[in-house]
Amino acid sequence: MCGIVGYTGPQDAVPILLEGLRDLEYRGYDSAGVAFMSRDGAFSIIKRAGKISRLEEALAGNQRDASSAGIGHTRWATHGKPTDLNAHPHTGANNRVVVVHNGIVENYAELRRELTSNGVSFSSETDTETIAHLVEQAMEDGHDLTSALRAAARRLEGSQAIVAMSAAEPGVLAAARLGNAGGVVIGTGDGENFVASDLAAVLPHTQRVLFLADRQFARVSPGEVRVTDADGDPVDARPKNVPIDPMSALKGQYPHFMLKEIMEQPAALSDTIQSLVTVEPPEIRLDDLGPAAGRLADVERVVLIGMGTSLHAAMLGRYFVERYAGVPAEADNASEFRYRGPVIDERTLVVSVSQSGETVDVLEAMNVASQQGCLQITICNTEGGQTTRVADGTVYTRAGLERGVASTKCFTASLVALYALAMKLGEAKGRLASGEIRAGIETLVRVPEDVAELLRGEDSLGRAARELSQAQNMLFLGRGLAYPVAMEGALKMKEVSYIHAEGYAAGEMKHGPIALIAPGFPSVVIATRNALRQKIIANIEQLQARGGRVLALISEGDAEIRTLADDSFELPNVEDAMEPLMAAVILQCLAYRVAIIRGCDVDQPRNLAKTVTVE
Ligand code: G6P
Repeated sequence: MCGIVGYTGPQDAVPILLEGLRDLEYRGYDSAGVAFMSRDGAFSIIKRAGKISRLEEALAGNQRDASSAGIGHTRWATHGKPTDLNAHPHTGANNRVVVVHNGIVENYAELRRELTSNGVSFSSETDTETIAHLVEQAMEDGHDLTSALRAAARRLEGSQAIVAMSAAEPGVLAAARLGNAGGVVIGTGDGENFVASDLAAVLPHTQRVLFLADRQFARVSPGEVRVTDADGDPVDARPKNVPIDPMSALKGQYPHFMLKEIMEQPAALSDTIQSLVTVEPPEIRLDDLGPAAGRLADVERVVLIGMGTSLHAAMLGRYFVERYAGVPAEADNASEFRYRGPVIDERTLVVSVSQSGETVDVLEAMNVASQQGCLQITICNTEGGQTTRVADGTVYTRAGLERGVASTKCFTASLVALYALAMKLGEAKGRLASGEIRAGIETLVRVPEDVAELLRGEDSLGRAARELSQAQNMLFLGRGLAYPVAMEGALKMKEVSYIHAEGYAAGEMKHGPIALIAPGFPSVVIATRNALRQKIIANIEQLQARGGRVLALISEGDAEIRTLADDSFELPNVEDAMEPLMAAVILQCLAYRVAIIRGCDVDQPRNLAKTVTVE
């Protein structure tokens, strides 16, 4: 969950590290630190609890020579409170090794006891510090930095990504990926190289990158990247070009990434849809399905997994699969699926949805599916993300980098990708006629313009947002395809505005939630044409009979519900499969507006991190 950045080369490392940390702040933001090495091999460490601005202030007051290499870290605390001492980087006992880390050393208590009984004194409460001591001790036993990191890694339990630096090897960074606690991306430049937990920190410098796989190690110097396996044997890992425009990672005219990413959905959807289908001839392409494409006809059951917003996309994907492929489908929370002993086999297609491709529970759930011989496809927004390596095939969303912690554009991009995948499965199963495929493609290609039109009118949400910003609790209700959107609307609201919000299937309302309804209690109800409209009308009346206030999302021109509800917002009349996508976009706008009125930090909500790489 933490962000890592490293640089080695002729430039002054510190400004590059700070820029990288700002690019990664969405990963964790409770403390930050850097270690940098002067050209004679002496290193300095500056770290502060709080946001990166506090680290910048500390660095501004620090006289220093230009540095040739360095590592930086932005933290999401797991072991030890966010304090200056617990911030990374951490050093070994003799200050010869410095380490940044993402993940959890699960046996750290045991290692700490062992090290302490051997006379090592700890200066922080973190699990990370054990790594620094182990690497330093291995170097004292004669290992070079990379082989010392390899030796230390043998002692560590749990998943982690580590980058280390040593005064004994100026200009060298050693990196390791152990398990699924997060990626290690190495960006290769001309006489300089970069290491990071995410592409976002590397792309401003180079688009030539390589990703470390599980239990791979890298020795990174200005002129060379050498990748080895756990035994130290060389691995042929070549960098490839990542076609993401680094400018797309900037906020531009917008005050927040969340708003920018909401507003750029027409382009994100258009880029994604263009990569999924062609209109003439009408074809669902899905070019990265690889060997999975030939096995779709044998699929008898589909299980869709994800976490957070991606789980809600998976829940909608389930409807698409049942409807277009006629195959039994279910959606499951990856953190539950992985421990449940799910009954799955080689005729089960497991579809994982993950914007980052790095969410630990999703990766572990995929491991469970691999052990059972399932076919696996991942819907992923990150080229080379770990889920794409584990799955048999990938459907990439082309939404560009998403920086807002609350996912927006990647949710809608995942929906269109799931829709295309469901149609592809329907085609492979001989369930869809060519006319239906053509119609499905036409539905998809209209989406970006409809979303653009919708966003042009979102400012009329102002009044509803002002009213809702006063609430302490609220409900989001929907039926059918609108049910997962109600869940997503509630999640967005609580993530960014800190208002307690719950999403329910409207049919469930009478089984508990209605007890909450007292005069003035607000509910947001998705009441579009195809979302079991008549039933939803009954729910609205039941809420109002108890004094509840209803904001209804309705289809354009629905005068009946407009009159009935206390407030309403009209969505365009689109194909029913795309109604949830339209509703989701408006619920994103609503959550954003409410959060801004309440003065919340929408891009970095408290306690959250963009990519959850620890359990
Ligand atoms: C975190 C993020 C969410 C995201 C979820 C799953 O909780 O804050 O926005 O939906 O992780 O992430 P993934 O990268 O797997 O889609």
